[in-house]
Amino acid sequence: MTTSEETMAAPPVRHWPALDLSGVDFDPVLTELMREGPITRIQLPNGEGWAWLLTRYEDVRLVTNDPRFSRKEVVGRPVTRLAPHFIPQADAMNFVDKPDHARLRRAVAPAFTARGIERLRAGARRTLDAAVDALLRDGPPADLIERVLEPFPITVICELMGVPEADREDMHIWTQRILSSTHGIKASERAKLDMEAYFAKAIAEHRGADGEDVISLLGAAVGRGDISEAEAMALAGPLQIGGEAVTNNTGQMFFVLLTRPDLLDRMRSEPALRPQALEELLRYIPHRNAVGLSRIATEDIVLHGVRIRAGDPVYVSYLAANRDPDVFPDPERIDFDRAPNPHVAFGYGAHYCAGSTLAKLETELIVDTLLDRLPGLRLAVPPGEVPWRRGALIRGPEALPVTW
Ligand code: HEM
Repeated sequence: MTTSEETMAAPPVRHWPALDLSGVDFDPVLTELMREGPITRIQLPNGEGWAWLLTRYEDVRLVTNDPRFSRKEVVGRPVTRLAPHFIPQADAMNFVDKPDHARLRRAVAPAFTARGIERLRAGARRTLDAAVDALLRDGPPADLIERVLEPFPITVICELMGVPEADREDMHIWTQRILSSTHGIKASERAKLDMEAYFAKAIAEHRGADGEDVISLLGAAVGRGDISEAEAMALAGPLQIGGEAVTNNTGQMFFVLLTRPDLLDRMRSEPALRPQALEELLRYIPHRNAVGLSRIATEDIVLHGVRIRAGDPVYVSYLAANRDPDVFPDPERIDFDRAPNPHVAFGYGAHYCAGSTLAKLETELIVDTLLDRLPGLRLAVPPGEVPWRRGALIRGPEALPVTW
């Protein structure tokens, strides 16, 4: 795979349009790119020029775990990308390399350890039970996104961040505007500034604090001089925004389960299988549109006989890696018995998802609660009528009309 000898010419640059895909369809452009070869070149709808794309599991793990591919170097470069309004922010954990990256993540680590997340379980279960009580009281039909899958992760991430109830609606609106292009670039930029100003003020007010929530941890880390105020502010945003990823991921998950009675039946009749089934669903779900954040090669590197030059932008596709037949036999099949299942749905390497343990706790609680308390849960419309988010970076149903 990694060789030092350049034996191949650079492949042609393929245009990758922003597609509004429905259901859990795998992106046909990505399928083509995977077929074309392990290393291809892509041009996305925004930004400038082209970038390399790696899709095989081993290559994805190599690039994401090799310091010669830098996130910091992306800042200030107009790299070809999906997002129209994307402005890389220096100091945000997504755009920092080792050793600063480890220092920044350490500042918030206590909130995201298994113990830190477990602390949220009882409160999260109460929130979820209250949402389901209200569903049962009001009766069917209902939109599962509006009633459960959206409000629940917002409440949990706000609890973890230390955002009080009165400010949660603002947080949600800012997150939506930052993550979607449909409100226009100005609205997205405004939302980003508003969220930053909010966190800057809150962190300043918690300087030297000793609470367990993220704002307090950041205030304490600034107080100790471990991180700067600017770094603290830049850390809070991605954590808050990332928190809402669960809405879309579980939205896709329930769409799969409610359109595949065989899978749903197994989840119901074999509760012990659920943790493994959730891992398989995470592997299978096309969480995002196109690709996420690029990296920049800091020196010439030859991969599969093709020379990536210093300064070239490089993308990996975790979605494609999760369908690599060399690692996941029969990858298009959802197989709850798949073992081992070393999927990379949460990424790989230093930038591995900071919220993976939280996402898994929330997903487990949602699946257990909905399956156990709503035994007749089913779609209230034909699958083709479920509306899907448009112009979004993260894929998911806009609404999930259900009955029970
Ligand atoms: C099922 C839900 C989720 C999925 C599938 C997911 C997936 C991912 C992926 C693929 C990455 C990128 C790795 C890279 O840049 O190479 C990532 C990074 C990240 N995620 Fe998540 N995520 C989820 C939920 C969450 C939650 C709940 C949070 C909230 C705390 C979160 C916060 C973050 C942050 C802050 C990063 C950047 C980490 C870094 O660059 O060091 N994510 N996630």
